[in-house]
Amino acid sequence: MSQAHVVSYSEPFKGNADNFIDDTVSFIRKYMSPRGNIVIPVSGGIDSRVTYELFKKAIDPRRVFPMHIDTGYMRLIRGFEEPELVAKTFKSAPNFEVINARDRFYKSTFGIEDAEEKRKGYQGTYNAVITEVLEKHNIVTGSDGTIGPDIAETKGGEYKGVKLGKLKTQHNVGNDPFEEKIEPLASISKDEVRIVGRALGIPEELSNRQPFPGPALSIRIPGIIDTDKLNTEKRANDIVEKGVEYHFKRKYGKPYIYDSRTGERIPFQYFAATMDSSIDESNSLGEEVGEYVKGLVGRKLIHCDVLKNKATGMKVKDDRFERTYEPMVLMTVTGEVDSTIIKHIGETVPEEFPVSRVLQEIKIGQGPYNISIRAVKSRNALSASPIILPRFEGIARELKRECVGINSICVDTTPKPPATIEYE
Ligand code: XMP
Repeated sequence: MSQAHVVSYSEPFKGNADNFIDDTVSFIRKYMSPRGNIVIPVSGGIDSRVTYELFKKAIDPRRVFPMHIDTGYMRLIRGFEEPELVAKTFKSAPNFEVINARDRFYKSTFGIEDAEEKRKGYQGTYNAVITEVLEKHNIVTGSDGTIGPDIAETKGGEYKGVKLGKLKTQHNVGNDPFEEKIEPLASISKDEVRIVGRALGIPEELSNRQPFPGPALSIRIPGIIDTDKLNTEKRANDIVEKGVEYHFKRKYGKPYIYDSRTGERIPFQYFAATMDSSIDESNSLGEEVGEYVKGLVGRKLIHCDVLKNKATGMKVKDDRFERTYEPMVLMTVTGEVDSTIIKHIGETVPEEFPVSRVLQEIKIGQGPYNISIRAVKSRNALSASPIILPRFEGIARELKRECVGINSICVDTTPKPPATIEYE
């Protein structure tokens, strides 16, 4: 695939959403060819929706072709398939279409163990589907919800003072299927997109939605994916989202806390990951980690195993962060341990040992999968700290009741860095 000619809006967000909207609308008008049309893949999330709204403002909406790909990896949201919900949101958009490409995505991702290979399989199908839409409508230009951190984490370099090596292949950065691409959000981060989204009149439940990655649930299923594991992940993710929102609603009257001045939403992200329960019996790393953890918590009963599946992380190498892809530690602690110590373990174990993250077991069952509950606080996704809620116990009970084949339900206690927010 040839490289797209990309034009990116590069001015930083200066705090005034109306000015940002005016400036990006002028930017779009400057770079859109006078009679050309544009294809915008929309995921249902805020970034691509804001992109769509900016184009709709800048040019005749009949020249804008929003499309949603049903990859089969989209979420269940309170029991509803996400593509159905996206279709409802865009029902008044003149050229909107949903493309069912589930079988093609399964074919290019099932049976692959390595995270980057899986990502490439997903990305290849994603681009092929968009190329077909471009050809069908004879369009060469595209845009999507690419934001600043996506670019920084894919290409390396620096973003807001943090030095980054190449972290992962973001599906929407580089290798674009378009001949030319116009990126109005390339200079801003998630919290800023939310502020712009509100100014554009996007309803709060949408502008404040938690981020959802382009490769969707495929990057929350470490190891080989098949239909059963994917269905378990969909169900588990819906239960975790619902449970965390319930906690915040009871405590604060809303499913999240939102700071309208900074654009920060707490929690930033919360979801389930589904991995194989297989343990790597071949090395003594689990024992070594167990000894180290005992040194931190004293005389508690601790057991640590190293899982066979690997997950992504980021660690400093030659003064910059580089991507890591290492196994996860499953830790069982008998008795109460203060959450600050649990967080300290999550932070230091991946720094001291060749592992990507620490998962603290909170419920035991029997079966081929482990489910990890991950909730994080973050401003811009470049760093994140784990949130550990008492409510996780109730969520774990529901997961055990509702999901078949669960060996262990655990809480991911690792910050970013040294882990990443997603698993792959
Ligand atoms: P990580 O896992 O790198 O994620 O800490 C940082 C933020 O980016 C989202 N994310 C992605 N978004 N394509 C996307 O569009 C991707 O490949 C991708 N990977 C991670 C993630 O959900 C988090 O908000």
